[in-house]
Amino acid sequence: ESGHYIQICNEKYKTDQFNNLSTSILQKINVKLLKNENHPLTILKSLIEDHFEKNFKNQYMAVDNLLNPVVTAKQNFDDLFIHKNHPGRAPTDTYYINENQLLRTHTSAHQREVLSSKLSDGYLISADVYRRDEIDVSHYPVFHQMEGIKLFSKSNLTEESKIQNSVTKFNIKEEKKGGPIQTCHDLNECDLVVNNLKKSLEGLIKELFKNEDENLQIRWIEAFFPFTSPSWEMEVLFRGKWLELCGCGVIQQEILNKTGNGDKVGWAFGLGLERIAMVLFNIPDIRLFWSQDERFLSQFKKGQITQFQSFSKYPSCYKDISFWLGKNKSDTNVNVHDNEIFDVVRDAAGDLAEDVKLIDEFTHPKTGRKSKCYRINYCSLNRTFTNAEVDEIQNKVKDIMLKRFDIELR
Ligand code: PHE
Repeated sequence: ESGHYIQICNEKYKTDQFNNLSTSILQKINVKLLKNENHPLTILKSLIEDHFEKNFKNQYMAVDNLLNPVVTAKQNFDDLFIHKNHPGRAPTDTYYINENQLLRTHTSAHQREVLSSKLSDGYLISADVYRRDEIDVSHYPVFHQMEGIKLFSKSNLTEESKIQNSVTKFNIKEEKKGGPIQTCHDLNECDLVVNNLKKSLEGLIKELFKNEDENLQIRWIEAFFPFTSPSWEMEVLFRGKWLELCGCGVIQQEILNKTGNGDKVGWAFGLGLERIAMVLFNIPDIRLFWSQDERFLSQFKKGQITQFQSFSKYPSCYKDISFWLGKNKSDTNVNVHDNEIFDVVRDAAGDLAEDVKLIDEFTHPKTGRKSKCYRINYCSLNRTFTNAEVDEIQNKVKDIMLKRFDIELR
């Protein structure tokens, strides 16, 4: 549709014949997963920020107020020297609102704006990014990236780029170069920046993967990005497969010159948060990050990398059952063990019961009689069932309980 206005994050945008946004994409924009501090993507983002904060005190600034994903073609492509006929610009790959405005395809779209602020010599920019792509368990048209940027004063480069406890010594004279050294940089300058970049990323990845693999293997594959040179992709060997985790390189000096940082040199990286989170949290399907299901969301807590426990893809239905222990008010010594309740549920519901929890227990202040409430989560592993079906099972649970135990239903 063209010639209309659409609203994205409280702003109105005029569409034209380039508009190719789908309704499902528009819905995703408002979800803002990174605002939930207990979401695995946000947990990972915070762990990375903490790592940089700990290792490079006060040199990094986290930027995550760029949640509106609409940028100009200039920001996303031109400013980064991406060619006019680069395939990434095609409307088959990128979501356009109109000829000049689009949904950012990478966090690099914010490099200039952040660098121009001159608020820091280091930035970590996290945001949702959008790409039209294939459909499978590891591809989704919206995902999240984190852009790392670090600048050094040219005059004090040797000092500033030193990293203690370095992991590996890199020397771009010896190894294959990922693209040419920029003519405005000398070999030593470039070497120092690249060493700092690679050590910083190695340190980060080793820290993140320390519980998965103590001797994690990392390799650097030469790559090409128009906005960095030389450039690499970092890969790690995980469960026998090389996983590409991020692109990186020495920032094109022209970007620094144009943003008022001509006296500096620096590096940048862009890493995919989903890729890393899927491995660390053992999340098998990228769609799960968008799940609003409590069975997914309640599993994760800020600051912790925990292993995802799978659950049925079919919907859950919760039913509560409350009762007094003892049929009469004077029965204060009756008890029923949890496991006896669980057996009744298994008898009546079979595998349709996914879990049963005691959610409330109290003693009546006057009579001294005890009350209990159990919540049963009904969920099939292979089908969706009707509410009537669940009601029938729930009634069966109640009937058996009444027969077996000395209780009064509430
Ligand atoms: N923006 C690049 C991508 O999305 C990654 C990148 C970031 C590469 C910064 C180099 C420097 O593929």
